[in-house]
Amino acid sequence: MSEGTQVPTSELLEQYQAVSARAAAEPEAFWREQAERIDWFEFPQTILSKDANGADRWYAGGKLNTAWLALDRHVEAGRGDEVALIYDSPATDTYTKYSYAELTEWVAKAAGALTALGVGKGDRVIIYMPMVPETAVAMLACARIGAVHSVVFGGFAAPELAVRIDDATPKVVLSASCGIEFDKVIEYKPLLDRAVELAKHKVEHCVVLQRMQSEASLVAGRDIDWLDFEAMGEPVGCTTMDATDPLYILYTSGTTGKPKGVLRDNGGHAVALAYSMDVVYGVDQGETFWAASDVGWVVGHSFIVYGPLIAGCASVLFEGKPVRTPDAGTFWRVIESYQVRAFFVAPTAFRAVKKEDPEGALLKNYDISCLRTLFVAGERLDPPTYYWLDDVLHCPVIDHWWQTETGWPICSNLARMGLLPIKPGSLALPIPGYDLRIFDEDGNELSAGEEGNVVLKAPLPPGALPTVWEDHARYVSAYWERYPGYYLTGDGGYVDEEGYVYVMGRVDDVINVAGHRLSTGQMEEVVAANAAVAECAVVGIKDADKGQVPLGLVVLKDGVNITVDELKAELVAAIRAQVGAFANFRELLRVERLPKTRSGKILRQTIRKMADGDSYEVPSTIDDPAIIDEIREGLATR
Ligand code: COA
Ligand code: AMP
Repeated sequence: MSEGTQVPTSELLEQYQAVSARAAAEPEAFWREQAERIDWFEFPQTILSKDANGADRWYAGGKLNTAWLALDRHVEAGRGDEVALIYDSPATDTYTKYSYAELTEWVAKAAGALTALGVGKGDRVIIYMPMVPETAVAMLACARIGAVHSVVFGGFAAPELAVRIDDATPKVVLSASCGIEFDKVIEYKPLLDRAVELAKHKVEHCVVLQRMQSEASLVAGRDIDWLDFEAMGEPVGCTTMDATDPLYILYTSGTTGKPKGVLRDNGGHAVALAYSMDVVYGVDQGETFWAASDVGWVVGHSFIVYGPLIAGCASVLFEGKPVRTPDAGTFWRVIESYQVRAFFVAPTAFRAVKKEDPEGALLKNYDISCLRTLFVAGERLDPPTYYWLDDVLHCPVIDHWWQTETGWPICSNLARMGLLPIKPGSLALPIPGYDLRIFDEDGNELSAGEEGNVVLKAPLPPGALPTVWEDHARYVSAYWERYPGYYLTGDGGYVDEEGYVYVMGRVDDVINVAGHRLSTGQMEEVVAANAAVAECAVVGIKDADKGQVPLGLVVLKDGVNITVDELKAELVAAIRAQVGAFANFRELLRVERLPKTRSGKILRQTIRKMADGDSYEVPSTIDDPAIIDEIREGLATR
């Protein structure tokens, strides 16, 4: 345990617990106070209420505009010349800073262009773009006019984009000619064209940012060059939004192949981000904050775009990789160049750095004394990576846990309050506003040290999802049905005697590959579609670099004539084409039968534990115990 504070631990722990207890006992009073952190057009008279679906909603009736909070407000306060966005792109050798005034002007222009295309309040806009400033501009332009954006991670293949087009039914898709992955140029336009073709919903317009690395051909009548788009309309002002109006939809992997459209509203989101930028990250207006994630993920939404700008910080938008752009010293260069005060990154990125520069020798070329705190999330911070970071860095390394659904962290050491001692492998305490419990399968609350399902007592705090886009029944069944009154996180873990939380991994069919959340169900659909496959299962197994990678188990149809290597090549290609290369599907095991219970449920957890070398129990309900030996042998020889 390393010390992180000067205040006696017991005193600090009591302070944490007192604030949490108050937030749990008086949620309305607590969140009314937090609502004062942002400038409302009309302060909400109601703090917590139920909507027509019966879901908890924060700040109904409050009026605001998220883009105004992120941009115009700072300009009006005389801070227009301060840096808002830093575009650092070793991928293209471009380094540009945009002030609050410049970004506001750009966003107003893009918002005017969207308006000219007929996009208005409540209309959806899909953004399928790489890590360029135009992506942030597109998001903020939607927020400015009340359009609902849905950013789709650039690594997704065309069928995944098509599914999102059909679910969100956007008027317009904003995209780019290409993205850049290390030295590879990834053409987006063929993927966009294919997705538009596959989708049943007809998109009226696609706007394409032509990048110099690749020029896309445009479809006449449908596609518009980004530069022509920007010239289309006059700059427009901010539309007044209700706190409960949707800001964005972000699709995330659930336990089935179909992604869930997590809906985020305006008011709760803005308050939650203002609260977390201060309380969790401890950054002040004018400081530089950097989340090295992708705008396609929730971290990018909350802590590349909205959070830092609402807090009046300079935010770094980084188009590069932790290594080979050009080397494993890139992170240190960015931190030094822009005097980053808080840095947020996925552990997998540091595992890549550690592999290339085990001693952290490149760090000696830079002065990163500006860095106050490093935050990691996206997957479990494995203790070896923690110790490495603790060793090479001079600042505290904070593991914190959250989900697309919550939009901001659930558990974290709180930089503003003073850091509690760090226990490697733990996330410290639940953040005030979250009432976290550990339940067994039957809904009994477990005691300290006992591992079970991590749940959150209703109401979830502001910012957390109030529904799944156009599918409230799924919101109820996925999150609330299992333990009425408690939100099911899908993660397993335990709490220790001091209240420190340990999240050990998903207990459902969601996996985390290099910090990217994927559904095994999604991959199973692709594997099952192969003509040679009778039955299959995909599970996430441990991987030293990527945290987890998928492993496919297949039962072949009788009489098919294909080798395992041939099938593997077909399946790898299919997953890359249908889901995306970032799924890292590379491992396949042929089995005679899948292990199942007598009721037909595939024993995915048992397979996963066997593959990971963890202890496992074979349930008494298994229909054919012999299959376990076969799989164990197969796994040993793979
Ligand atoms: N667009 C297109 N393709 C992408 C992509 C994107 N945005 N992201 C990944 N891919 C592709 C890669 O090019 C690679 O393709 P290949 O198999 O043809 O080489 C494949 O998906 C696998 O990518 P990845 O798993 O990311 O491995 P990598 O070796 O390319 O990079 C890391 C390794 C560690 C550098 C990278 O995974 C990383 O930076 N991870 C951090 C992720 C993160 O920040 N997540 C957010 C959590 S908060
Ligand atoms: P996403 O919705 O993509 O942000 O992924 C959320 C999931 O990532 C969580 O449900 C966890 O399984 C995992 N996760 C995120 N942060 C952490 C962390 N700090 N420790 C353990 N798991 C994490």
